[in-house]
Amino acid sequence: MKPTFYVTTPIYYVNDVPHIGHAYTTVAADVLARYKRLMGYDVYFLTGSDEHGQKVEKAAITAGETPLELADRVVKRYQALWERLGISHSDFIRTTQERHKKGVSEIFSNILAKGDIYLGEYEDWYCTPCETFWTETQLIEGRCPDCNRPVEKLKEESYFFRMSKYQEQLLAHIEAHPDFIQPKSKRNEIVSFIKEGLRDLSVSRTTFTWGIPVPGNDRHIIYVWFDALTNYISALGYPDETGNYSRYWPVDVHLIGKDILRFHAVYWPTFLMAAGLPLPEKVFAHGWWTVEGQKMSKSLQNVVEPNMLIDKYGVDVVRYFLLREVPFGLDGDFSHTALIQRMNSDLANDIGNLLSRSTAMAVKYFEGILPEPSEMIDIDLALKTKTGEMIAIVDKFIDELAFSKALQAIWDVISAGNKYIDDSAPWTLAKDPANRGRLATVMHTLLESQRITHCVLSAFLPTTAGKALASLGYAEEISKEKLVWGGLKAGTVITKVEALFPRYEGKE
Ligand code: MSP
Repeated sequence: MKPTFYVTTPIYYVNDVPHIGHAYTTVAADVLARYKRLMGYDVYFLTGSDEHGQKVEKAAITAGETPLELADRVVKRYQALWERLGISHSDFIRTTQERHKKGVSEIFSNILAKGDIYLGEYEDWYCTPCETFWTETQLIEGRCPDCNRPVEKLKEESYFFRMSKYQEQLLAHIEAHPDFIQPKSKRNEIVSFIKEGLRDLSVSRTTFTWGIPVPGNDRHIIYVWFDALTNYISALGYPDETGNYSRYWPVDVHLIGKDILRFHAVYWPTFLMAAGLPLPEKVFAHGWWTVEGQKMSKSLQNVVEPNMLIDKYGVDVVRYFLLREVPFGLDGDFSHTALIQRMNSDLANDIGNLLSRSTAMAVKYFEGILPEPSEMIDIDLALKTKTGEMIAIVDKFIDELAFSKALQAIWDVISAGNKYIDDSAPWTLAKDPANRGRLATVMHTLLESQRITHCVLSAFLPTTAGKALASLGYAEEISKEKLVWGGLKAGTVITKVEALFPRYEGKE
């Protein structure tokens, strides 16, 4: 039986349309999923949409729609974008689906029955005109931060989750599992937060209706984060603990942005502890993208729309840039200049040129029929070794979710390939028929190194790798076993590739 691997993205709110921040997590998860499939894992890759809550309810009112109409409309935009970005998810969960509502009601009832959810009173400051509760610290000089009118102390009935009870158990878990929360700096922040003391958490609201009712008391709507987090198991069929749930849970990694780490590293694990379910293996929080140095926001009108980038530069350029430019876990800045720089140097020049030069020579010197190599000499063996070593390096970096380092390791082999051409000078060898055997070995070494490189790269840049492998006459299904030297056989038909990536000469 294959080992399993379960990876998730956050489920995206439908009150906003997709931007590069959303594309970022989803592309990263896709690379991981594709890579693990390649390495022989039985992968479950989940993404979806977060459709309940006050924010969505309000956005729907503004748009003159019902919340479900709004969700139906916006969710299509996410799904269409994932299609264009080549996202290979196994499942797309919407929190308005019956399977999800069932999972949420069940886990809520389960914790309620155990006594770790109880009915209490939530006391806070209330602004009647705005119909909003505010905490003491949110008030501005004792007044409503939105309208500046006086507020009054009000009590609202609410269900509470006994999060305080799990404080020590959670700390002990984090202590015993150093990789549970990553990167490390974020783990330390979470540990300090927990040590300040966990308070019980209000997990129901009576101020709006768009959500899942509390089982047995439908005046209360389940708190949107309790609802949303449960998607990770409801998609697997929970409360049915057989089938996909038993096969894939606990999740191998939840990929998320740093702003929602507390929900994933404190709330979610304590909910699971209370329900008696296993905790995630890993929660990894990536950084945030700014745009040309500024925070991305609707009001600044600088939101970067992935579809526009794909139209302009092509899908694999976008995928490459997002994962190569910034180490996963750190914040990064998006700029067209930086993207074009990467496109022209790493893609058009390095990888594109290597393949077009190599395939052109195979056509020119051998009519496009891969010759039988003769004995390899040092310079060939060095490229072969470097290609082989890259596999282990990429594997290690992928395990650390260091996507940019993994790409760097692949590019080291590409650079070595370009240098190999210069050093072995096939055009000189081609002048003397006595060097035919040597020339055959050079061509074989060069193309075989690229075959392996593109097999690995297919996890990152599936379209590009597909084109490259087709030009190398390699049509086999890619798997771990194929990543060893010798896959290209003599007689294979090589076709010349014009340009994998055009140089971008246009204006930014
Ligand atoms: N619905 C919740 C998640 C629930 S998961 C059980 C949510 N949705 S969101 O649509 O607002 O955000 C989804 C993800 O997008 C978050 O991981 C967030 O970090 C990420 N990003 C939003 N803006 C971003 C950037 N500017 N840069 C990088 N990622 C960003 O939160």
